[in-house]
Amino acid sequence: MHQRDPGLESLGEQKKALCCLGTTSISPGASGVDGYSCGDMNPVRLSPGDRLLAVADHALRALTSTPQGVRPKPVPARPGPPLDDSDRRLAGALMRVNHVGEVCAQALYSAQALATPNPALRRQFTEAAAEETDHLAWTAERLRELGARQSVLNPLWYLGAFGIGLVAGRLGDKVSLGFMVETERQVEHHLAGHLERLPESDLASRAIVTQMKSDEAGHAIAAERAGAAPLPWPARLAMRLAGRVMTRTAHYL
Ligand SMILES: [Fe+2]
Ligand SMILES: [Fe+2]
Repeated sequence: MHQRDPGLESLGEQKKALCCLGTTSISPGASGVDGYSCGDMNPVRLSPGDRLLAVADHALRALTSTPQGVRPKPVPARPGPPLDDSDRRLAGALMRVNHVGEVCAQALYSAQALATPNPALRRQFTEAAAEETDHLAWTAERLRELGARQSVLNPLWYLGAFGIGLVAGRLGDKVSLGFMVETERQVEHHLAGHLERLPESDLASRAIVTQMKSDEAGHAIAAERAGAAPLPWPARLAMRLAGRVMTRTAHYL
């Protein structure tokens, strides 16, 4: 009897309407895993060409459309004071960096889903991408509220992250999950730093970043439980350096 790994299952606990890379349809409440499925009882498998088209569609949605989250944007218990110009600019720059991080998350999980031959893992990566869509939507909305723009380099970030995700995926499922664990941990650490740097008065951005930090920690734990292999330190260091280039560039561009 087929049994699903509890770690894999927990990756999909906060199911959303999914943009499905491996099958043709999404059915919240359908008879699939956890009440959601990429398809129904007999999912229709896509050809490699169809999957590539689905990947392209996913990229265009992440880069050009207004993302629709499932969970509502976290809000502070009380409204904060109005931000002065300097605080607004700083908050805008930091939230732009966080938005870029979520664009990259979309690309990574999309690529990892494409690369794995394991249908269960593919579905989990796809579902993880859907969970990250909340973060993408929240940060995009906060940027608009702050009057700040998204990174002009988003297509480049997406392409780069997609390539890295493909490489990670081709190295095998355990390594791919290990890459996910390390990514989520580094993002969690980065968000902790932003909670120190965001203006004290910007309660709205703080509420979003606090929830994202908690979610990323959960993603790392779930990937670990799903069988992630620890990455060697050179790989972790390379990821940290790449992340630093991205965050410093996106602060301004
Ligand atoms: Fe995220
Ligand atoms: Fe995450």
